[in-house]
Amino acid sequence: MYKLIKPSTTALSYYSKSSSHLLVGVQQNQFVSAGKRFFSIDQLKQQTKNQKLINWVEEQAKLCQPDKIHICDGTEEEFHRLTNDLVDQGVLTKLNSKRPNSFLARSDPNDVARVESRTYICTKNKDDAGPNNNWMAPNDMKETLKPLFNGSMKGRTMYVMPYSMGPLGSPISHIGVQITDSPFVVANMKIMTRMGQQVLDKLGANGTFVPCLHSVGAPLAKGEKDSLWPCNPTKYIVHYPEERAIVSFGSGYGGNALLGKKCFSLRIASSMAKEDGWLAEHMLILGITSPKGEKKYIAAAFPSACGKTNLAMMTPTIPGWTVETVGDDICWMKFGPDGKLYAINPENGFFGVAPGTSTSSNPNALKAINRNTIFTNVALTPDNDVWWEGLGTAPQKAIDWTGKEWTPASGRPAAHPNSRFTAPVSQCPSIDPKWNDPQGVPISAIIFGGRRASTVPLVYQAFDWRHGTFMGASTASELTAAAEGSVGTLRHDPFAMLPFCGYNMGDYFTHWLSMEQRTNSAKNLPKIFYVNWFRKNKQGKFLWPGFGENSRVLKWIFERCNAKGEEGAQIAPIGYIPEQDSLDVKGLDISKDNLRELFTIDKKEWLNDLSSMKKYCSQFGPRLPKEINNQMSDLEKRLLDY
Ligand code: OXD
Ligand code: MN
Repeated sequence: MYKLIKPSTTALSYYSKSSSHLLVGVQQNQFVSAGKRFFSIDQLKQQTKNQKLINWVEEQAKLCQPDKIHICDGTEEEFHRLTNDLVDQGVLTKLNSKRPNSFLARSDPNDVARVESRTYICTKNKDDAGPNNNWMAPNDMKETLKPLFNGSMKGRTMYVMPYSMGPLGSPISHIGVQITDSPFVVANMKIMTRMGQQVLDKLGANGTFVPCLHSVGAPLAKGEKDSLWPCNPTKYIVHYPEERAIVSFGSGYGGNALLGKKCFSLRIASSMAKEDGWLAEHMLILGITSPKGEKKYIAAAFPSACGKTNLAMMTPTIPGWTVETVGDDICWMKFGPDGKLYAINPENGFFGVAPGTSTSSNPNALKAINRNTIFTNVALTPDNDVWWEGLGTAPQKAIDWTGKEWTPASGRPAAHPNSRFTAPVSQCPSIDPKWNDPQGVPISAIIFGGRRASTVPLVYQAFDWRHGTFMGASTASELTAAAEGSVGTLRHDPFAMLPFCGYNMGDYFTHWLSMEQRTNSAKNLPKIFYVNWFRKNKQGKFLWPGFGENSRVLKWIFERCNAKGEEGAQIAPIGYIPEQDSLDVKGLDISKDNLRELFTIDKKEWLNDLSSMKKYCSQFGPRLPKEINNQMSDLEKRLLDY
């Protein structure tokens, strides 16, 4: 059994396997061992008076039995120390000096994406997790996880990372503390969150935090050589929304291991938001300014790997308009005193998909990742730089994401389709001046969208908030490589939140509908739109050029936010679509046929979609709000009359 050795005034206190392994620390942050294994909790005690945090870390240390505990201070110096060590161990490859302070990691080939089939929402009542989530009773899950975590950090260091999602001290932000045994995860979390001592200071003695326990699940026996990407074939990504706690085992991949991101900022936060009357969404946030200098903020929800990062950082092709970036993946919105929704990007970094990112698709992203960036599973060029499909001319040879030699003739991708970059938000040239504003930015419009080769027009607008909620609920998209599953299959992904909603999706629809009652006037709620950049013609070619040209659609949305009634729009059975000539296509090389096809509403296709939606919704039983049924029958009537 572990035993707490009472601290003396000079020595630090440690846990030791037996009292014969007396351990003496001489200075803070130094570990001197007279025995085999040692821990420092006193370092934490010196840095915080938050007893709940101290107790939680002590408990996890007892369970996981790491060799050391390191309380992260979040400094650059700490980042350099960790990354230097990882380079020495061969885990990271330092890239050439053209990309300063940047690294490449290659994951285990079986640990490359989020594992939705291993992701659980553990509520006391199964129906509270809903049919959209895997479920296990909290106590059963705890019993399942205990043996996995027992000794899981042996031979490793346990890192304790206090972090803030959102600007420190913002009324919209929340604090988490992640424990991990992966220094790679620490380096990524340093980029993705505001992490370190300043968060402990903010937390104070009584502040609340979301405890997040992570282990790669690969304890090391004495003398055992570590693998380059330690992980475990058994994986569990577990959320306890009622306790507001997260436990993740077995994976080092971002979405499974950087627990501030999907686990906290979406699954736990969505459940907190339901309790407390706000919204935690899988949305980018951008600011758009008209040639007259009027600015609006827009949030947009698209499923994973459907171009949120590209839209958030886009360079408009229409003269005089600018787009600035607040965030590319997650949006927390709370009501301001004026009854409007104010949004922050809770993240501090981008965890973007590399393939397809290029000077033409996203020049701002390319500039954002030209330094201080960690790449995972991209290819390494002979001059120690990175490459991926879609970046431009292929190198004559490279080392692919699996570490094998590669040439363009190899017949396989050099970079994994879900290879990623982790880079600080602040490095993005299009960063919005208010991205770090604790008050958040007022949201004028919300956009939903997915990858749809057919059926869905380039853009349409909801008649009102309820109709908009229905549009969000009916989001469907063809699967991408960001999660396991077969790429290209169409799946319902309501609000782009299917993998991220921390509770019953039927209740989530109800929560969205309730926003109308939570604001002082429905006029203060954002207008709701749906877009589809991915519609194809019969020959399988995209009808719309996308990227910077999407600014034309944003312009229509912007103008619709200022418009009275139907100005610039015409009523279609599915919502408002642009009135003839109100979508600005000046200077765009697009045929009249393509433009017509982009807005074609095929009654049969829409009725098919509707019947698939009805079937999808039936799984929510009594949890499905009546209003969604009303919206479905209203749409059906409008389509039948069309
Ligand atoms: C992401 C995802 O990484 O949605 O953002 O999978
Ligand atoms: Mn995402």
